[in-house]
Amino acid sequence: MSSRGNFVVFEGIDGSGKSSQVTRVASERGALRAFEPGDTALGAQLRSWLLDRDTPMISETEALLMLADRSHHVHTVIEPALMKGRHVVCDRFTASTFAYQGYGRGVDLDALQRATRLAVGKVVPTLTVLMDLSVDLARSRRSLSEQDRFESSGVEFDEAVRQGYLELAHDNPAEWFIVDASGSFDEVSKAIDARLDQLEWTVSG
Ligand code: TYD
Repeated sequence: MSSRGNFVVFEGIDGSGKSSQVTRVASERGALRAFEPGDTALGAQLRSWLLDRDTPMISETEALLMLADRSHHVHTVIEPALMKGRHVVCDRFTASTFAYQGYGRGVDLDALQRATRLAVGKVVPTLTVLMDLSVDLARSRRSLSEQDRFESSGVEFDEAVRQGYLELAHDNPAEWFIVDASGSFDEVSKAIDARLDQLEWTVSG
């Protein structure tokens, strides 16, 4: 039994169905539902710049704004909750920046690693769930109207992000769980729950 809550993160390309699973899991496990970017007042401002296609931005700037959002989020929302023994289920975390800005945009991965350490300190997920599916299927599930900066980045970008996620997960199998997100909501839920049940959910008061 631990005095700290579990920190479970969901990752995946846009259209993977991750947000519905975050909502479901947080509700069923009595956890705080969190998301990035944009889960704080400061983050909401950063998110509007980050997603706006009409605000030109170089990739390093994009990475640093994602990390600014994360730094504030971790220190003001995630870590205080975990310390109080609350479980946190978060829609995206550090791996999103490695996958999108690193593998997707080509920002130097070692530099991202160091900047991430500055942003999050020692806070690491208990488990990261990768909702994996083909780019074609993910794109068919996305709304094609009102695409943001990332959704309008093209098939090759999505493919690089997906492969980046798979590489990250294969490099750290103990910290990641890859789920086949091509199935029905119930099938995917079942696979996720079987893995989450292996974590300790009782927190000592
Ligand atoms: P998200 O809110 O998950 O997307 P949606 O609004 O479609 O549900 O994330 C917004 C976008 O931000 C998404 O395309 C991925 C991107 N992103 C990064 O590029 N790097 C990051 O570090 C994070 C957290 C998100």
